[in-house]
Amino acid sequence: MGSPLYAELLRAAARDAESDGPVATLFALPEIASLSLPGIRLMAAMHYCALDGTSPSLAAHLPSTGGDGNAEGAWAAARELFEKEPARAIALLRRTPQTNEVARALPLWAGLLELSALMHLPMRVFEIGSSAGLNLRLDRFRYVGLRWAWGDPASRVVLNNRTLSGRPRHLDAPLSLTERRGCDVRPLDPHDRDDCLELLSFVWADQTDRVTRLRAAIELARENPADVDSADAVTWIRDRVHPLGGSVCVLMHSVTMEHMSKEARAALETTIVACAQRSKRTAPFAWLRMEYGGTAYETRLATYPGGRDEMLATSDGHAQGLRWFNRR
Ligand SMILES: C[S@@+](CC[C@H](N)C(=O)[O-])C[C@H]1O[C@@H](n2cnc3c(N)ncnc32)[C@H](O)[C@@H]1O
Repeated sequence: MGSPLYAELLRAAARDAESDGPVATLFALPEIASLSLPGIRLMAAMHYCALDGTSPSLAAHLPSTGGDGNAEGAWAAARELFEKEPARAIALLRRTPQTNEVARALPLWAGLLELSALMHLPMRVFEIGSSAGLNLRLDRFRYVGLRWAWGDPASRVVLNNRTLSGRPRHLDAPLSLTERRGCDVRPLDPHDRDDCLELLSFVWADQTDRVTRLRAAIELARENPADVDSADAVTWIRDRVHPLGGSVCVLMHSVTMEHMSKEARAALETTIVACAQRSKRTAPFAWLRMEYGGTAYETRLATYPGGRDEMLATSDGHAQGLRWFNRR
């Protein structure tokens, strides 16, 4: 997945597991053996110790902390850490993988422009599965493509439209967010040092563009408050998300449904339909989402009343390789 360093480190970890090294000892523990995504957890545990400054020998080899990217050196430091500090390694391995991928703001922002061009109304944006809520600030980012740009040239966060075909439309449509709010079952706080290190630790340590962008989005979030409630999506939508006159109520999410059980997804869809049914021409509702569609991640926009559902773009899970639909 675009990380030569992690490919090397995971090969070394696999060899270590096969030769009864510290990785084998850790993954023999019942509370660790049963966990999903062992590779991601192992790399994130290692990355965290470099980011928080407790392992300078590791930091010296990881590009995200200014290191030389030497896989052999990084693995030696990581192995020593797992061997000498098993309690710490266990605590770090038990964290549920958490990401807040800022690049996903690009297709979502394009969806809001479509909506603005369609409805000519200000928007109240509600995001489920917000994580740290970084993408709730998507109108404060700068977006740049071939011969076009949108947003504050001085924005800390710049997203490049690395597209396979097409481009976003309606760049002149006004974007006015009068309310923005999110929820997550385990929200992370951009003001909390540990939460930020946790988010950063789940980015591959040699993908320095992503690390830099995430750091910038955290700074931007600190300067532009938006609440993220600690709540399950279904209950939260029932309590909080109601179409109101004079604005369009937007329910937004990205890469969240695949983290829910089949039953939870069905309950979510029923709740969204109920919300859409309460919409009126004077109080419309929109459902904007980027989720896995079977062969690619699809960004879709449905509008109510009416229920017109349009595919806006496909991409990979990090919103790279975008293909825009019906684009000029
Ligand atoms: C892969 S992350 C995506 C975060 C963010 N939407 C993004 O695209 O960067 C999925 C998020 O969904 C949250 N989540 C999973 N199930 C949820 C639920 N039932 N209600 C609210 N949030 C949920 C997780 O805690 C996690 O933060």
